[in-house]
Amino acid sequence: MASHKSRVLHRSLRETPPKAIGGEGVWLIAEDGRRILDASGGAAVSCLGHQHPRVLDAMSQQASKLAYAHTGFFSSEPAEALAEHLVGEEPGGLAYAYFVSGGSEAIEAGIKLARQYFIERGEPQRQRFIARRQSYHGNTLGALAAGGNAWRREPYAPLLSDAFSHVTPAFAYHEKRDHESEQNFVARLAAELEAEFQRLGPDTVAAFMAEPVVGATGGCVPAPEGYFRAVRDICNRHGALLILDEVMCGMGRTGTLHAWEQEGIAPDIQAVAKGLGGGYQPIGAMLASGQIIDTIRQGSGAFQHGHTYLAHPMACAAALGVQQVIRDERLLDNVKVLGAHLERRLTERFGNHRHVGDIRGRGLFQAIELVADRATRTPFDPALKLHQRIKAAAFEGGLACYPMGGTVDGRSGDHVLLAPPYIATSENIDMIVDRLGHAVDSALKSVGH
Ligand SMILES: Cc1ncc(COP(=O)(O)O)c(C=O)c1O
Repeated sequence: MASHKSRVLHRSLRETPPKAIGGEGVWLIAEDGRRILDASGGAAVSCLGHQHPRVLDAMSQQASKLAYAHTGFFSSEPAEALAEHLVGEEPGGLAYAYFVSGGSEAIEAGIKLARQYFIERGEPQRQRFIARRQSYHGNTLGALAAGGNAWRREPYAPLLSDAFSHVTPAFAYHEKRDHESEQNFVARLAAELEAEFQRLGPDTVAAFMAEPVVGATGGCVPAPEGYFRAVRDICNRHGALLILDEVMCGMGRTGTLHAWEQEGIAPDIQAVAKGLGGGYQPIGAMLASGQIIDTIRQGSGAFQHGHTYLAHPMACAAALGVQQVIRDERLLDNVKVLGAHLERRLTERFGNHRHVGDIRGRGLFQAIELVADRATRTPFDPALKLHQRIKAAAFEGGLACYPMGGTVDGRSGDHVLLAPPYIATSENIDMIVDRLGHAVDSALKSVGH
């Protein structure tokens, strides 16, 4: 890490990261000329890799026409075209798109839309939201209150609304009991959610919120078979909405455009972000069912929310470019094939590793979880900061991946999340696993294992 003084308030106030000065497909280029293999697209952002010519072209064409017009006065061509692309065929009943600047804003919009919908339906008593522990929905105060990550919430706890409560996540590796079948595990989680509705008063709950495949907090955790059908049923029975957070796992990352397609259900409200614009522009979206929007249209006639950069034309043009490339180049097929390859390679390299307890994920969204002891699933002492050591060792070896701590309960546990671009090749995947293997072993060695 370079030590010169920077006026940018960086993530670490003690170190200035090296400058990235270029990108080329799966590669990032640092100021000293080093080429870093981008195995996680930052935090599952760069789904097309870097500098994709079609996206750059879409951006420059829009820049030459119109960079910005406020949504209080105008719509724009790219916003209309992007919405048509995303919800024109009303997937799962989602019929409208609200474009914001990132994932947290998409979640905030979803929470507020759910609340306003119930006011306008004549059910103003619905003020409660149920989410899950070990989830992440963003860092703004509403989204942070919804999330269940203990470490992120702690300093801000006095500012977080108690309209949100949390139930057990569908995290089989840690939450399923030994000798409990997957079916019984799902039944137990469903019973807990039902009990939470009853505790709050079923007609006071506006929505249940969850990530279909948990991202950074748990490390690519898909739910067991039948879980999402069970929670959808509970929401339906009590007249509550289902809000799915696909900020990280959505837009093709798991092999289908929406992760919920693999669960046999659809949400009423959905948040997407990272893979929507692939990092070419900051953009997120809240997708909402026609029924919710029709109710508000017939009521007050306007969603009572807004930001200056809603539906930013440059951001929408970039996202439309990204989504058209995914469709035209049939990249979801690549995600499925390469995802299976990645899973196979991770299993070959880490399946018998004494400190890798679990390998999990969907599509090009896979993680390994590190444990001190495989038999008891005991995590490493968090003071060792194993995840940070792996990140540093990987970077040193020319690999950018996304290790995180707090996997078990927000404090202990370590995992490494991988989210390579959809344009990767099988050779790129092999190199990712090879470099990650070296980084994991060298980090473990540094803590005496
Ligand atoms: C599942 C999930 N929701 C919400 C967010 C917040 O998105 P943003 O960082 O763009 O505000 C993230 C970011 O990592 C996320 O992974």
